[in-house]
Amino acid sequence: MKKRTIKIVLIALTGIIILFLILQFADKPLENRPVISEVNINPEINAVFQRACYNCHSNEVSLKWFDKVVPISWIVKRDVSYAREVMNFSEWDSTPAAENGKLWAILNMVKSYKMPLENYLTVHPEANVTDQEIALIEGYVRALPDENFAKDTLRKKISDDEFKLWRNIEHHMDSVPLSPNGIKYSDDFKNWKVLSLNTLYGETMRVTYGNDILVKAIESEQFNSIPDGAIAVKAVWEQTQNKYGEITPGKFINVQFMVKDAKKHKDTEGWGFAKFSTQNLIPYGKTPDFAVNACISCHRLKAKETGYLFNVPDKITFKK
Ligand code: HEC
Ligand code: HEC
Repeated sequence: MKKRTIKIVLIALTGIIILFLILQFADKPLENRPVISEVNINPEINAVFQRACYNCHSNEVSLKWFDKVVPISWIVKRDVSYAREVMNFSEWDSTPAAENGKLWAILNMVKSYKMPLENYLTVHPEANVTDQEIALIEGYVRALPDENFAKDTLRKKISDDEFKLWRNIEHHMDSVPLSPNGIKYSDDFKNWKVLSLNTLYGETMRVTYGNDILVKAIESEQFNSIPDGAIAVKAVWEQTQNKYGEITPGKFINVQFMVKDAKKHKDTEGWGFAKFSTQNLIPYGKTPDFAVNACISCHRLKAKETGYLFNVPDKITFKK
């Protein structure tokens, strides 16, 4: 019995070894590709990249023997092909816009010790980037002209232009847009207090402003007697997120008004609603009573608690 077990184990082991060898031979080695255009920042930084990053992010990968042994070689090949795809020091676009963007990404990665990959460092200690080297990269990147950084993506430029146009939107119009219920658009809110900033709804960015009358009413928590003349305005943009994770307003979507006038807006419980969309500020609604169906139902949920308003600062809502 015992002898038989040993025999089976031996056969199994031999099988595994043979399979292992077949896999070694069947495994195609990672191919290097020609260098098209190489990163060239300054000699010291180039050397850091070559030592610590080139084994994954370049066309000149020089691996150790154990990196080429199955199954490690499978992981290495996968990492290298991903790494080459996201950033390749041998296919480097050195126009300032492209280069600066990548250098900021590199700085973020090395400064947070996300690169080189940790599991790689344990077997390739020579790839460790020292704190002095990180400081060197940081000094270089931070000294890059800001102007190029700002121009980094076309999207950033589009949103900046969009925002500039939006800042003076009334100025660009022939006549002031009017909602069917008589509420006039006005740029005034751009100088009011910001009640809240939301980036969590869909892919939008929402800023809610309040005029002095409203802010005072909120501060003194007069929610069941918000005076006439109080106004809340919410502006909605698409979100633009640049590669450093910063969220900024992108395309302008719409702006919404709530104007308190108890007599004028009886059918919507004292609040006049209006919505103007796109940079052309196209008014929402066909008939003067559009808001009865389109707006008040949701805002009524907040009638008692915060006087029909959603964006009341947390300090006040938490106290309730
Ligand atoms: C062992 C292979 C390996 C090494 C060495 C390595 N990287 Fe990477 N790197 C990757 C892989 C794989 C990815 C893509 C997948 C990911 O983001 O995890 C990546 C992604 C990146 C990215 C893009 C992140 C993003 O924005 O998506 C940057 C920047 C980067 N590495 C910088 C570096 C720098 C700088 C070094 C050297 C200091 C380095 N890497 C060393 C494998 C490596
Ligand atoms: C589906 C429910 C819903 C409808 C319908 C609705 N709103 Fe709102 N509104 C909200 C929510 C939720 C908020 C707060 C979240 C945010 O900032 O978007 C809000 C916020 C606002 C604000 C900022 C003041 C505040 O209450 O925080 C204004 C102004 C506003 N809405 C106007 C309108 C107008 C005008 C209409 C009709 C065209 C409308 N709303 C229809 C749910 C709704």
